Amino acid sequence: MYSEKVMDHFQNPRNVGEIENASGVGTVGNAKCGDIMRIYLDIDEESHVIRDCKFKTFGCGAAVATSSMATELVKGKTIEEAMQVTNKAVMEALDGLPAVKVHCSLLAEEAIHAALWDYAQKHEIRIEGLDQPKSDISEHDEDEEY
Ligand code: FES
Repeated sequence: MYSEKVMDHFQNPRNVGEIENASGVGTVGNAKCGDIMRIYLDIDEESHVIRDCKFKTFGCGAAVATSSMATELVKGKTIEEAMQVTNKAVMEALDGLPAVKVHCSLLAEEAIHAALWDYAQKHEIRIEGLDQPKSDISEHDEDEEY
């Protein structure tokens, strides 16, 4: 049911953790299942290159695998390039996901966008194609640790 790549990223997720004093943090919830994802970005202010990206999730295996792959894909990219890392691109990089799990892959994309939004707000910049995240949830929830 799951590709080898999905199993690999689920069992050995890359970039799990947090970044202290992150340039941007985004937390989103998946309304469909109630799972939660938080993404931390470390962004070079001069070049807009994402130097580091970490995630924490209270989510299912597919959410772990897609976030692991998504963080790998955005690392080293500019903000503009990272905007092209859609959930579809992440799923392709993982050799696909079962149809019922496609919504899980949206968590990573939305959390990255929320973290970029946070960065843009702090620096009063506009990121082309980025709108205010809809499913951003409050920072007050304390039980979303991975
Ligand atoms: Fe919730 Fe997959 S079932 S993220």
